[in-house]
Amino acid sequence: MAEGKGGLEDVVACDSEICFIDGKQGRLLYRGYDITELAGHVSFEEVCYLLWYGDLPNSGQLKELRGRLAAARVLPAGIVQLLRELPPARPMMSLRTAVSALGLYDPERDDNSLPACQRKAERMTAQMPSLVAALARLSEGKEPVAPRADLGEAANFLHMMRGSDPEPLQVEAMDMALVLHADHELNASTFSARVTAATLADMHAAITSAVGTLEGPLHGGANEEVMRMLVKIGAPEKAAAFVHDALAAGQKISGFGHRVYKTEDPRATILRRMSHDLGERAGSTLYYDITRAVEKAIFEEKKLYPNVDLYSASTYHAMGIATDFFTPIFAVSRVSGWSAHVLEQYAHNRLIRPRAEYVGPGARHLPAQAAR
Ligand code: ACO
Repeated sequence: MAEGKGGLEDVVACDSEICFIDGKQGRLLYRGYDITELAGHVSFEEVCYLLWYGDLPNSGQLKELRGRLAAARVLPAGIVQLLRELPPARPMMSLRTAVSALGLYDPERDDNSLPACQRKAERMTAQMPSLVAALARLSEGKEPVAPRADLGEAANFLHMMRGSDPEPLQVEAMDMALVLHADHELNASTFSARVTAATLADMHAAITSAVGTLEGPLHGGANEEVMRMLVKIGAPEKAAAFVHDALAAGQKISGFGHRVYKTEDPRATILRRMSHDLGERAGSTLYYDITRAVEKAIFEEKKLYPNVDLYSASTYHAMGIATDFFTPIFAVSRVSGWSAHVLEQYAHNRLIRPRAEYVGPGARHLPAQAAR
């Protein structure tokens, strides 16, 4: 079989009004708004509203949404119990199990109507940070921290991760990171969410598919791989040799390359700045400096550009977040985009069922019993 055949490169699988990527110019727009205008100017909650309902909220709509999200943050007791009982595992494995289990407790579990699904989109977006923070605390042998209704999504998430008041610069950076990761058209995890939704399976089934798909190192798992690589390199002056040897051995370097962007991913441009500022604030730009050196070396050797995962690694590290939780943070943001796509899929549904080119043996008959 031809290796690497497929991948649905450049195949248009659906119409969507949610997100546009200009891969040549390196632009990303959410419902017409350029990400570079949104980041730092609107909150993650406003982006959620934009993705789900088509427009930015006015102040009344935003206040109401914030209230609904804050009210939905508390996890059912059965879910917290489940998290305590799960065997030690990669957080993304535990997260997909927990997201699936959340569906069992959802008050509108068996209602797949549009209003119920909109409420589920809000609920799941409110619950994802609670799940991730509880998993992080339990993995450190600490108790989960109750959410605070007076804080926004980014600040409350950091509060639940740490059990203390987060610094304003970190809240600002987390909010921006959540805005930047919220949606990205028909990436692998969003596509899997839409394929699941297209069977008319429920929202929790679709989001569980998406969480499972996000984990892989070719997709959202790349930010954790980047951090492990930076630690392994250890110093900026060692980056060029590392890159050279890795490329010579035919290895992929996480955080570089993209199926759609043929230039720099605009999210990487913003995250590069954040990584630098947060590193400086934390007292060390070591991992920012190594990342810069890797970037220079890989561009010289192979003309590859950074993607979103390159600088999110050193950004989250500078916030004091454990590497295993980088990809779960991606899910904390992307659940907004996944659920917006699921809502759009339900609204214009047709089963997604492509074909495979059959390249196996021709039709044949069972040999006689004696010859087997
Ligand atoms: N390191 C080294 N070479 C690379 C890289 C990389 N990161 N990315 C692409 N290339 C090379 C390939 O080896 C190939 O070279 P060749 O033509 O000489 O054989 C060429 O660029 C095309 O690469 P493909 O793998 O065919 O590109 P594809 O579109 O299938 O894959 C992907 C895109 C998976 C993102 C790829 O660039 C990759 O593996 N990157 C590293 C993992 C990563 O960072 N993933 C996160 C992506 S962003 C996200 O999902 C959130």
